[in-house]
Amino acid sequence: MEKVISGIRPTGNLHLGNYFGAVKSFLQMQNDYDCMFFIADWHSLTTHPTPENIRQSVRTIFCEYLACGIAPEKAPIYVQSDVKPVLELYLYLNMNAYLGELERVTSFKEKARTQPDNVNAGLLTYPTLMAADVLAHKADKVPVGKDQEQNMEMMRLFARRFNRIYNVDFFKEPQSYHFYKNAVKVPGLDGTGKMGKSNGNCIYLCDDEATIRKKVMKAVTDSGPTQLNQEKPEVIQNLFTLMELVSTKETYDYFDEKYNQMTIRYGDMKKQLAVDINAFCAPIRERILAFQSDEQYIQKVARQGAERASESAAKTLSEVRQIIGFRA
Ligand code: TRP
Repeated sequence: MEKVISGIRPTGNLHLGNYFGAVKSFLQMQNDYDCMFFIADWHSLTTHPTPENIRQSVRTIFCEYLACGIAPEKAPIYVQSDVKPVLELYLYLNMNAYLGELERVTSFKEKARTQPDNVNAGLLTYPTLMAADVLAHKADKVPVGKDQEQNMEMMRLFARRFNRIYNVDFFKEPQSYHFYKNAVKVPGLDGTGKMGKSNGNCIYLCDDEATIRKKVMKAVTDSGPTQLNQEKPEVIQNLFTLMELVSTKETYDYFDEKYNQMTIRYGDMKKQLAVDINAFCAPIRERILAFQSDEQYIQKVARQGAERASESAAKTLSEVRQIIGFRA
């Protein structure tokens, strides 16, 4: 079975946009592939989080991904910093990664521009660490968003370069798995664009019922349709798109018909949408809370994940050491 590795940056709570984007693809992939998911806590050090920040955000991811249905017996979840052989590969890859090419990476240039007082070496070598994450397991596929394509190209470049330098056919070039191509784009509640943390327009999977209701009732609308069967403007289409995701077809059709007949009351539609979003989130939310109070279970999953991943990475590294001319 093909091997899949996916890294998750610890960036706060999951929202509906994440769920219908990445998470749903992960749930599918864990059935179709030999998957491992890890939390990229080494990568997160580029922004200098406190120990408490790290512990907190790693735990949050663990609980939320498990609550969504990632099944660790099928797809181990591990914390990047628990798998030390990756660091050794990071060092080897860095020896053949060139300043010029690392400096040309768009996300590096972007960070260098927006945070000129923190242009650290970790930021520069982000692509080599990411390559080490994947190459250490000789993975075939990596589910990534569009923004990671350049990092994936660097990864393939480093793999090819290693093979060429040592005249071996050792690393394969991991392929990007573009889950965003069949993922649903979830709109935000502010009328424009998609749901995203930086847009402040999210419904989080851990939001309670009252919070969901408040957010949905505040969603932007317009003054109503002025013609029968008119095309919906973006702000309204967004509400219908959300409804398509969480409500039954009957509910969707009911409000669609009301809109087409110009008899829709947005207040009623929002009330229903809030109820249906809550019904969707409630079981996930309950599982998040349950996992959060079961520290032992989380520790066990992390330990077992780390064991599986360390074993796989140690095997690769032993071979890499031999290829390089070190003791295996
Ligand atoms: N760079 C990825 C992101 O920002 C996270 C990541 C780190 C990753 N290492 C990885 C993803 C390895 C896939 C494989 O989302």
